[in-house]
Amino acid sequence: MEKKITVLPGDGIGPEVVAAAIRVLQAIGKRYNHDFQLGYAAIGGAAIDQFNNPLPEETIEMCKQSDAILLGAVGGPKWDNNSPELRPEKGLLRIRKTFDLFANLRPVKAFPSLLNASPLKREVAENVDLMIVRELTGGIYFGEKQRTETDASDLNIYTRSEIERIVDNAFEMARLRRGKLCSVDKANVLETSRLWRAVVDEKKELNPDIEVEHNLVDSVAMKLITNPGHYDVVVTDNMFGDILSDEASVITGSLGVLPSASIRGDNFGLYEPVHGSAPEIAGLGIANPAATILSVAMMLQYSFGMKEEAAEIERAVNAVFEDGHFTADLAKNNETALSTDEWTDKVIAEI
Ligand code: NAI
Ligand code: MG
Repeated sequence: MEKKITVLPGDGIGPEVVAAAIRVLQAIGKRYNHDFQLGYAAIGGAAIDQFNNPLPEETIEMCKQSDAILLGAVGGPKWDNNSPELRPEKGLLRIRKTFDLFANLRPVKAFPSLLNASPLKREVAENVDLMIVRELTGGIYFGEKQRTETDASDLNIYTRSEIERIVDNAFEMARLRRGKLCSVDKANVLETSRLWRAVVDEKKELNPDIEVEHNLVDSVAMKLITNPGHYDVVVTDNMFGDILSDEASVITGSLGVLPSASIRGDNFGLYEPVHGSAPEIAGLGIANPAATILSVAMMLQYSFGMKEEAAEIERAVNAVFEDGHFTADLAKNNETALSTDEWTDKVIAEI
């Protein structure tokens, strides 16, 4: 197959982890006979420096011409005092909105060899294999805001169609996985949650093969810690999803291994590690590239339908961990830590 990918390295360790992930992508291309065509463009701080704009028109145009986007990370102290319009993260918000990437997928899966870093007991963390599907372009973060001397408000609005499309997406995701869906809301107090719950119940009728449960967000916040192995697909709104996905991300203990995707109804999507630009280790060649490499695996699976290729990357990453190879963030002592490139070479050798 032939696929066009726009690569947005961004700031800090972004360019380093993206370069590593691209090497893995090319190894997959060679092994499975795919032609991945890459175009590079600017986003975030790098784009502010070059174009005075965190998401330049050139970047948007290139993304429009491609089948998927791979992003590193944006931000750093250099731009922390910029005006709101000239902040790196503005580029991220804008690219999601421009391409209507309404579904944010955050898988969390335990790698047995990394569980020493988990804050939970091994027997609780080892069964974790869940996916949070967060609505990303609606709700309270985008509702009308106002503030006076004496009060402030943020409007939480969801249209039926916004809920329907994210719920449809979650049912599909559950079907690709273990067939279980947990919908999270606060239907005991919020009207938006009551509409959310009604939509899920309607969709449940159309998807009888999927096991559905409703849960209140405060209860899920507890159960994610006491029994995270219970969950398969968890679908929720923008704000609850923001909080729960960060909570879920610490279960396995290793920020450097968590991938994410932001997708819409078709095959187009944006893939990026969950972590940020880690400015304090940028340029040292020691960043963990696993999260970005696993984001490439998600791209292969969800945008290109290359299931086997995606599974091969996941298998290779796990095998390298099982062999006891780690970058500095996960190594038991610094002498044994591999550099970004050395660790990536191990993954490529596995493929
Ligand atoms: P961060 O995720 O960049 O770093 C948190 C901690 O984890 C740091 O100690 C860092 O060294 C370490 N870390 C993160 N990724 C790593 C990797 N791949 N390998 C080894 N160690 C890794 O979050 P932080 O420090 O809160 O933010 C730093 C900058 O990144 C800020 O400018 C922030 O705005 C930005 N940021 C960007 C995001 C994005 O582009 N999606 C997301 C989160 C933060
Ligand atoms: Mg967050």
